[in-house]
Order: sequence, then C-alpha cells, then structure tokens
Amino acid sequence: MNQNQLKQAVAQAAIDRIVPHLEPSAVLGIGTGSTANFFIDLLAEYKDKFAAAVASSNASAERLRKHGIEVRDLNDVSEIGFYIDGADEADPNLALIKGGGAALTQEKIVAAVARTFICIADQSKQVQVLGKFPLPVEVIPLARNYVARELSKLGGRPVYRAGVVTDNGCHILDVHDLQIHDPVGLEQRINQITGVVTNGLFAMRRADVLLLGTETGVQTITRDSVLNP
Ligand code: 5RP
Repeated sequence: MNQNQLKQAVAQAAIDRIVPHLEPSAVLGIGTGSTANFFIDLLAEYKDKFAAAVASSNASAERLRKHGIEVRDLNDVSEIGFYIDGADEADPNLALIKGGGAALTQEKIVAAVARTFICIADQSKQVQVLGKFPLPVEVIPLARNYVARELSKLGGRPVYRAGVVTDNGCHILDVHDLQIHDPVGLEQRINQITGVVTNGLFAMRRADVLLLGTETGVQTITRDSVLNP
C-alpha cells in the first residue's frame, strides 16, 4: 500500500471508531492535513448523525462546509467529544510533533477542549524519539529573530518557513537537529520564550488513541495500553 492508501485506511478506522458514538447534539473537532482531509471526506456520509464540527484551520473549515457540514466557532461550543487529527511524528507514549501544515495553535486548542484525541497517521510517522521532523514553532512576527536565537540556545537549528503566514497572522520557525527525550519538559521550556505563540510538541496534551496505518493493517495504540501494557 502506498502512503495515501495507509492514510485512507486510518481515516476509515477513525470513522468506524466514532460513528457508533455520534449523537444529534455532538460537535466533533477536526484537524488539518492530508490525513484529516481523508477523514473529512469520509465523515460527509454521516453528517446527519451529529450537529457540527470545529475546525483547526481555515482550510479544514472550508472543506467541511463544502460537504455541507456546519462549522462552529470554538467559543460557541462547550464540549467536544472527539478530536481527530494527523501528526508529523508520534512516539511510543503518544506524544506528537504537529504543525507541518502550520495549523498547530488551533490544533492544540481544539485538542485541549476535546475529551478524546484520536490521532490518525501512517507508519512513517512512528518514531522512538521525537525530533527527526523539524519542530514547528509559531511566533509573533516581530519576535522571530529573538525566538530563533533562544531556540538555538536549546540546541536546535531554527529555520524560518519563508512565505508562510499562519491563520493567526504569525510566522513559523522549524527547529532542526533536536533529539527530544523529554517532550513535556521541552514543550514547557519553549512555551516560556517571549514571542512564542505555540510549539508543535503535543506532549502535555498527547493523543489518547493512535490509529497507525501499516502494511499489515491498522494498529490501535491507546494511552491505556501504553500505561498498562
Ligand atoms: C498540520 C498537522 C498535520 O496533522 C501534520 O502535518 C500531518 O499532515 P499529513 O496528514 O498531511 O501527513 O499537524 O498542522
């Protein structure tokens, strides 16, 4: 199977997992990226079984609306049962690197609200130690060079993602050459740098379930199975 087929398979697995739990009042959180897009396209068939979605990017909101799915502002929503999104890397404890699509801030906010975060990813995203994928950091434009110098002090090599402006009007630094053995510690440390909006480590709020697309089928890895193997 090629990578797109694996993404399609995990999107279908997420549909199979959430559809039995849908209720007329349910609001779903929807991520960003090609894997999330496969999920959105499959979700369209079930649009009459739930109320609305909250999107983590303008691109996903537009795709949802094209399918006739209502998109709500997060401020108008008090509860999200499931958040479904892809990842750039996932470690064995379900800590993630996200933000390859520059939507990390909204993704982190929607994930924070959701009761259950289901991460959908093909097997290329599974790593033992996070950091091979450059860590995206969203920054206030004025602070970009200052934040870059501070990130260098942490041992990384920040590279400005030229030409990219996030949905929040901010810039992205991609931090190369990190080996992230303490994802929670680094997430907190980067959050302390003045001018940082968000970093792409999802370690404090990690995934609850990882649906991983492999050649032999979709593997389900849960936080419970990680904590109590
Ligand atoms: C966007 C993200 C995506 O989830 C991540 O980049 C994975 O994308 P894809 O599903 O296209 O491989 O974090 O900001």
